[in-house]
Amino acid sequence: MKKEQIEEIISKMTLHEKVLLCTGKNSWRTRDYEKLGIPSILVSDGTSGVRFQIGSDQPEEMSFYDSLGGSFDNEEAMSRTYRATCFPSGSAIASSWDTELIGEIGRRLAGECKELGINMLLGPGMNIHRHPLTARNFEYYSEDPVLTGEMASAIVSSVQHEGVGTCMKHFACHNSDSRRTRVNVTVSERALREIYLAGYERVVKKAHPVSLMSAYNKINGEEVSGNNRITRDILKGEWGFDGAIVCDWGAVKDPVEASKGCIDLQMPLSKSSAAYLEAAVEKGQLDEKLVDERAARILKLVYQLKEWEADWKEIQHVNSHELAVEAAAESMVLVQNENHMLPLKPKQGQKIAVLGHMAKEPKYQGTGCAAVHARQVDIPYDQIMPYLAECEASFAEGYLPDGSTTDELIKEAVQAAAEADQVIIFVGSFLPGEDDDYNRKDIQLPAGMVRMIEAVSEVNKNCVVVLSSGEVCEMPWRHRVSAVLLTWFSGEGMGSAIAEILFGKVSPSGRLANTVPERLQDTPAYLSFDGNVYEIPYAEDIYVGYRYYEKKGIMPAYPFGYGLSYTTFAYENLGVKEADGQTIVSVDVINTGDMAAKHVVELFIEPKMKTRLPRPVRELKAFRKIFLKPGEKKQIQFSLECRDFAYYDPKVKDWVVENGTYAIEICHDSMNVALASEITKSGEKYLVPLGYDCGFYEMFQYPEVRRMFYDFLVEQGLVTRDQVNDTLEKGIIWSFWAVRSYLDMNSNGLISFEAYNDFIDRANEVIRNMK
Ligand code: BGC
Repeated sequence: MKKEQIEEIISKMTLHEKVLLCTGKNSWRTRDYEKLGIPSILVSDGTSGVRFQIGSDQPEEMSFYDSLGGSFDNEEAMSRTYRATCFPSGSAIASSWDTELIGEIGRRLAGECKELGINMLLGPGMNIHRHPLTARNFEYYSEDPVLTGEMASAIVSSVQHEGVGTCMKHFACHNSDSRRTRVNVTVSERALREIYLAGYERVVKKAHPVSLMSAYNKINGEEVSGNNRITRDILKGEWGFDGAIVCDWGAVKDPVEASKGCIDLQMPLSKSSAAYLEAAVEKGQLDEKLVDERAARILKLVYQLKEWEADWKEIQHVNSHELAVEAAAESMVLVQNENHMLPLKPKQGQKIAVLGHMAKEPKYQGTGCAAVHARQVDIPYDQIMPYLAECEASFAEGYLPDGSTTDELIKEAVQAAAEADQVIIFVGSFLPGEDDDYNRKDIQLPAGMVRMIEAVSEVNKNCVVVLSSGEVCEMPWRHRVSAVLLTWFSGEGMGSAIAEILFGKVSPSGRLANTVPERLQDTPAYLSFDGNVYEIPYAEDIYVGYRYYEKKGIMPAYPFGYGLSYTTFAYENLGVKEADGQTIVSVDVINTGDMAAKHVVELFIEPKMKTRLPRPVRELKAFRKIFLKPGEKKQIQFSLECRDFAYYDPKVKDWVVENGTYAIEICHDSMNVALASEITKSGEKYLVPLGYDCGFYEMFQYPEVRRMFYDFLVEQGLVTRDQVNDTLEKGIIWSFWAVRSYLDMNSNGLISFEAYNDFIDRANEVIRNMK
């Protein structure tokens, strides 16, 4: 619908109607007005599958008492939730590094939304993994903004291409789930731009999402779902985001302030908010124009999604279980495989022990609003058994459902392992209950599981550990076993995918989307992450994830980007050239082993010169996943933009590329370079304005300003024209004081602060015009 038509509809609406439109009709619908021809759209979670509760979009009124204790993921809630395909959660699918695969998942998700009449999916989740204790990290992709932004762009594009809207969340810096509706994050402008906003920026520019969800927290003292610079000036202003901002459920604390911050749709229904907004306009405390603007953006979203809905073809259910299995297999990361223990090749009469309660009751998805009522859950034990038809297979629980164990269970597991040729051990990590203190309390496996691994590996070294978790875990026991497969929460297909990988039907091809630390204490945000506080300083700044480990030289257990395969790959012919303002990189990839497999090509950039602002050692800038048959060779091309070489300079208030040499690196992971080539950038002009407190070093970098400065000294009578010479320059340039302090101490009051400040203003005018 055209802008003018929307304006006309708004002109016919009463203030009361408009403020009500600014909040939901109920928890999942926008408000409709039949007489005005305004329809309603239906929205629903979630991030790894559609979660929609039967009848939940109906009731407008619910008594306070009835609303108590609502859970999304207990048995009762699940029984009221429609069945849907449970795909790998965010941290799992990010480990596939496969944008085509996630695009296909997006198409299926859109199909399942359409089956239920859902116009907009509340996903993807794409906050940066700042710290592994954040409980909802399982819903988010990675510690890296490029991997996050690329995966999210692919799914947003494909869902929307099918006629269903997306609402990426939770914008931004929503990195603690304890006190999550009240915490204030203190973060530098540079970290904000380079790490926390960069993924969102990529999606806004690449995939044009129709909406975005503003988070519960504050950033630098401003409510993100209130009047704040980040939604208003950066998202809408600088990036030109023209979708609607939908607040997280219950995130708006002051609807008047939210209107000033361009928060459009306040979800869910809040009659008191609407009344408060109405009164504010009537009392002249809020310009009605701001309410009109919100209404216009909400209507734009509603009509756009309704137009898309009108194009929905006949809706047919597509069974996506096979895709869920494929996606699960691609998400898994093999991090250890001593003596090529995997793939297992069970021979007749061999004895295999399967251990661990989770073999039969897998942890395949996360909790809360991300929980999906899965259609068909593959149980690892059941999927493994057919491969062991000719073997002697035994099973022992090893630990109880809560992760604790008993002497008896350990004894059984040890006995089974001692008698077996090979041992498959299933373990996993639980999430805490979702309440106001919803962060993981540590990143260790439950004690009973660790005890079992230790006891079992004492009697048999041929153990493969299959570990499922939403986020990374400490693995101090890993050296005691031969192989470790990280499966994450990879959804309903996890059981089959584990079997396919263990027995070599497919090669593992996942790569770590997050660094696995040796210990929690080694993680970048360790000193400034405590779930139970309201103030969170992002003290590690831009050094999040691998950026920190590389810079500090801390060896993690496994680096970002790492993952093993059953075949081998080689790179050759790395070519780097400049064309039309882009840097074109090409590289040949060859499958040098004897199994067909997928492989991730990772491109990092490393500045080789001393840079003006400190920078990470290297940063991921592009990647591609390809499939190669044995002996097959493919050439891969990447186009790098200027921005890929840049950092954000808060003083310049822009991205700058420094002159110098950069290495273009094709890497095995963030620590290991396979092939590199260097390129020199002449750089863009970056002009940092001078502060009143600048030093001679900053001032004299601009020859024009240097000349002006000497003129100024002459004008002010501090020196004569002929005293402006090398001796003068030598005499002042050594000063470690700021120029103003130096003059103050040495000019006998001849140069007033006002005159000096005026000089700096003039100098900055000249600098601005240099652009
Ligand atoms: C969650 C969102 C979710 C919304 C609706 C909020 O509490 O943070 O991720 O989309 O509820 O369920």
